[in-house]
Amino acid sequence: MKCRICRAKANVYLRYANAAFCKEHFIKFFERRVRRAIERFEMIEKGDKVVVAVSGGKDSLALLYVLNELSKTMDFEILAVTIDLGIGEYSKLSVEIAKKNYERLGVDYRIIELGDYGFTMDEVAKYRISGRICGICGTAKRYILNKVAKEEGASKLATGHNLDDFLQVILQGYLYGNLGDLARYYPVSPSLPGLVARIKPLVTTPEKDSLIYTIAKGIEYVVMECPYSLRASSQDLKNAIFYLEERRPGTRFSMFNTYVKMIHPLIREAYFKGGVLKKCKECGEPTNADVCLFCRVKSSVLAKKGA
Ligand code: AMP
Ligand code: FES
Ligand code: ZN
Ligand code: ZN
Repeated sequence: MKCRICRAKANVYLRYANAAFCKEHFIKFFERRVRRAIERFEMIEKGDKVVVAVSGGKDSLALLYVLNELSKTMDFEILAVTIDLGIGEYSKLSVEIAKKNYERLGVDYRIIELGDYGFTMDEVAKYRISGRICGICGTAKRYILNKVAKEEGASKLATGHNLDDFLQVILQGYLYGNLGDLARYYPVSPSLPGLVARIKPLVTTPEKDSLIYTIAKGIEYVVMECPYSLRASSQDLKNAIFYLEERRPGTRFSMFNTYVKMIHPLIREAYFKGGVLKKCKECGEPTNADVCLFCRVKSSVLAKKGA
C-alpha cells in the first residue's frame, strides 16, 4: 500500500478513512485533525495559557506533543502538570516517564503531590474510604488540576480524553439515564467562577491512533495499568462501540457528530441546571454542597489515620 500523500510505502492504514499513510504523513494527518477539533469547538484562543494534564499514559502524552507543536504556530503557551497520586510503583513510574518527556521537549512543567494536599490514593484504599476508589481519584484529579491551573494563571485546562472515551461516556449516559451529566458533557466546558475552562482536544481522535502516534514519534509512555483500575464495565461499552465500528467503519464519527450537533443541544436545553456553584466552607473551592467532596474525603482519611 502507498501513502495517500507522497506515494511512498505506507506504514499505517486507517480503515475508517480508507487511507494509508507513511510515518511522516500520518503524523501530519494526526496533528491536523487535533487542530481542526480545536478550531471547530473554539477550544483555544490567541494568548491562552493552557495547562496540559499529563498522566504519563499514551493519550495525554500524545496530547502534550501535539499541543507543544501547535503552540508554535497558534500563539498560545502550555504548562504540563502531572499529579503524583501516591499509588506505589505505578505513580513513581508515571511521574518518571512524564518527566522524561518534559525534559525531551523542554516544556515548562509542575509535578504535584496529592500527599501535600492531605492524603494519597494508597491511603484511600488502605482505610477503605467509602465510595468507588476511581471516583474518588477522579474527584481528586479534577480538584487539584483546577486549583493548580488557577494558581498558575491558566485560562484553559486540557485533558487527554479521546473519541472512544467520549463515546463511552455518552453510551453510559443513555443506558443509565444520566441526562443531567450529559447536559454538561461536551468537548469543551466553559469557565465558571472558580472553575477553569476544560477542553478535550483529542475528542475526534480514536484511541488506537494515539497509540500509533506515540510509536511514530518514539514517545515513551506508561504501559502499566493502575492497580485500582476497574475498567471492566467501561471497557465493555468501548468494545460494543468498536464492534459497530468494525462492521461499519466510520460509525464512531457518525455517533460523535449526531451527539454534538443534534442530541446534546436538546438534552442541554431540557436538563442543564445553571452553573451557579457555592464555595466550600473548608477550602473555598467551588462545589454544589456545603463542603466539597475533596475536603470530605480528606477528613475521612485524617479521621481514620488518627483513630
Ligand atoms: P483517566 O481519568 O485516568 O482516564 O484520565 C483522563 C485524563 O485525565 C488524562 O488523559 C489526563 O489528561 C488526565 N490525568 C489523568 N491522570 C492524571 C495525573 N495523574 N496527572 C495529571 N493528569 C492526569
Ligand atoms: Fe486513579 Fe487508578 S488512577 S484510581
Ligand atoms: Zn507520505
Ligand atoms: Zn473543599
